[in-house]
Amino acid sequence: MIDKIKDLLQEVQQMQAANAEELEALRIKYLSKKGEISQLMNDFRNVAPDQKREVGKFLNELKETTQHKINELKEGFENVQTGTEELDLTRTAYPVKLGMRHPLSLVKKEICDIFARLGFSIAEGPEIEDDWHVFSSLNFAEDHPARDMQDTFFIQHNPDVLLRTHTSSVQTRVMEKEQPPIRIICPGRVYRNEAISYRAHCFFHQVEALYVDKNVSFADLKQALLFFAKEMFGKETKIRLRPSYFPFTEPSAEMDISCNLCGGKGCPFCKHTGWVEILGCGMVDPNVLENCGIDSKQYSGYALGMGIERITNLKYQVKDLRLFSENDIRFLKQFESAN
Ligand code: DAH
Repeated sequence: MIDKIKDLLQEVQQMQAANAEELEALRIKYLSKKGEISQLMNDFRNVAPDQKREVGKFLNELKETTQHKINELKEGFENVQTGTEELDLTRTAYPVKLGMRHPLSLVKKEICDIFARLGFSIAEGPEIEDDWHVFSSLNFAEDHPARDMQDTFFIQHNPDVLLRTHTSSVQTRVMEKEQPPIRIICPGRVYRNEAISYRAHCFFHQVEALYVDKNVSFADLKQALLFFAKEMFGKETKIRLRPSYFPFTEPSAEMDISCNLCGGKGCPFCKHTGWVEILGCGMVDPNVLENCGIDSKQYSGYALGMGIERITNLKYQVKDLRLFSENDIRFLKQFESAN
């Protein structure tokens, strides 16, 4: 019996397994209930008492060695497996969660890109402004209601330091510094003293466009507006201009587009009119040009301004303005694919 044990011991010390299944087969062969070693253990009962000590010693050694060897091979597999996993250079990368652009940023970029294709370049101005740039230079009468505390945020009760109520202030800033041709698009945040509700907020965003050159006419404005509407809302979009009033443009108009939800047939979104309002525009009032040092006899221009929230609402049907500033990730995530 001792010889058999010794043979097995040698066999076990040399055993190899190429994979986990082979190893399991070895374990069954030697260590399972009916395995060779268990068999020897059973036979041990019949060993002569004077040999029991010696045989028992060898048998224990065999059992321990086998167990040890099997564990060793098993560990080898596990290491090799994790080792190759770490080194698998063909494996696709873990998905990295990237952030997404805010819907207002997306729409702002789209508006600016469309005007960039017409040759407009981006201009920016300060959010903390003075009366001249926001109101006086733009032909607002001394008693115009927009100058009222009800509408405008003044800083430290100083009537000359205020948060801009529209991006039209950037028109003045650029015209004061540059002579025509001027072709700018001015995106930015504006502030108004409004109670916050689903349809009004104390801050929101606008994009202003200004084109001043020789012989700029209302037809140029209309052409730019039509181009913008079709690019932004699709080729089928129609526009309509309604006479309006702004202190800084003459004549002034408001532009509607055919409802982009029902295509102009009439639906609850357009209040069954087939049209939705999207922006204000007009020919720059000669007074404004003169206020900024531009000769209104030589030059004329058009201007337009729109709310980015309004355009985003039309494009994505966001009914509640407050969603834009609440940072609810569930809302923002919906624009992931638009990035
Ligand atoms: N500033 C206007 C507003 O805040 C928008 C606007 C209307 C801008 C007509 C313009 C314009 O440049 O021509 O409501």
